[in-house]
Amino acid sequence: MKAIAYFNDNKSRFLDELLELLRIPSVSADSSKKEEVIRAAEYVKEKLLEAGADKAELCQTDGHPIVYGEKIIDPELPTILVYGHYDVQPADPYDLWDSPPFEPVIKDERIYARGACDDKGQFYMHLKAFESLVKTSTLPCNAKFMIEGEEEVGSSGLEQFVIENKEKLSSDVILISDTSIISNDTPSITVGLRGLSYVEVEVTGPNRDLHSGVYGGAVANPINVLCDMIAGLQDADGRITIPGFYDNVAELSEAERTEMAKAPFDLDDYKRNLNIKAIKGEKGFSTIERTGIRPSLDVNGIWGGYTGEGAKTVLPSKASAKISMRLVPNQDSDEITELFRKHFESIAPDYVSVKVTPHHGGEAAVVSTNSDAYQATVKAFEAAWGKTPIPTREGGSIPIVALFQKELRVDPILMGFGLDSDAIHSPNESYGLFNFYKGIETISYFYQFFSEEKQQA
Ligand code: BES
Ligand code: MN
Ligand code: MN
Repeated sequence: MKAIAYFNDNKSRFLDELLELLRIPSVSADSSKKEEVIRAAEYVKEKLLEAGADKAELCQTDGHPIVYGEKIIDPELPTILVYGHYDVQPADPYDLWDSPPFEPVIKDERIYARGACDDKGQFYMHLKAFESLVKTSTLPCNAKFMIEGEEEVGSSGLEQFVIENKEKLSSDVILISDTSIISNDTPSITVGLRGLSYVEVEVTGPNRDLHSGVYGGAVANPINVLCDMIAGLQDADGRITIPGFYDNVAELSEAERTEMAKAPFDLDDYKRNLNIKAIKGEKGFSTIERTGIRPSLDVNGIWGGYTGEGAKTVLPSKASAKISMRLVPNQDSDEITELFRKHFESIAPDYVSVKVTPHHGGEAAVVSTNSDAYQATVKAFEAAWGKTPIPTREGGSIPIVALFQKELRVDPILMGFGLDSDAIHSPNESYGLFNFYKGIETISYFYQFFSEEKQQA
């Protein structure tokens, strides 16, 4: 393939361009980084034009801009829409990084930087596969790009943008590289993602912070109470105790579960990698099932009282926590948030009051394995990796997937190339050069196979 020869000749420039993008601290959650987020958007726009897009623009939203670009070579030909995000998670805690998060370094064939894998390194592969096809005059179909800047904070402006721009975003397939493969020896295609309901809770006791000696033992401590309430949200079997929580959970057939169990998984490796002696989860389900097809509930942060240096004897007035629930097909994110709120209020003892504030959410998604696009993806992996990819369900969330299915009626293909060990959202995030380059190759093959299949159809 000519495009692959071009890519081989330009590899090191492709990498340099990615490193430049990684130097821009486009942290969407941090309002003091607003200018940097825009700088990243401008950079993506410029690179889309250099790669060969006919046009590229920043589309304003209530939050950070969406970069849109396209090359339409013939309206009669199939169209691929690429989705990705140029925003990144905050890099804190900085002192746990071995090198500064926004000064990318290559070490042991890996790129270390915030966003190296999630998602700058991954969406950038699409720009370079596209460039390789355009510059060798082998682009076989139309291409559109929608790279957003608010994925890590819930994509609040995106739903409206998609609804208002259905024509502009119309396509035959949507490609997303923002997920993982099982390993570099076992490539896989993600066919399911979990949904999300995210809430913040606040428990209030006495009207002010108290001396823990003068009042301790006589007045309920909101931190103790909050811990109790949280502990009760799961039972001894690891099931979530919120009434109605499991009502709509889609159960898999035995055949589907047997199929899932074929994916390689080594529990000892898993534990060694995380440095834990044992795992814990819902009774009756395997680890792959616990993250792939079962819902979960986790505290993401908890605070209250005194956490500074030394000791302060205080019985605090308030305690808070951020709680996320990962959801599976047929659970409705808003409904679950409401069930949580009702339940949490109902279990609050008389000696405290509670406030539940919903944050962003999103629906779970399952992708069909019967489409032309899925078959083209399998072929692309076979061509680039020499192996047939395994379908997997992942535990993370990309709410836009369900939104694309609902509003655009197009099934996305989750063609991610990350590894669980890339430490996304953690200190020392990294992305393998092997994965970056293999990804570009796989995507280039996808264009070819998908166009061929569409032409035959
Ligand atoms: N790329 C991740 C999602 C992901 C990671 C899917 C690994 C599969 C495997 C995405 O950027 C992300 O972090 N999503 C958030 C949800 C969002 C609504 C903030 C998540 O999953 O926490
Ligand atoms: Mn991502
Ligand atoms: Mn992320």
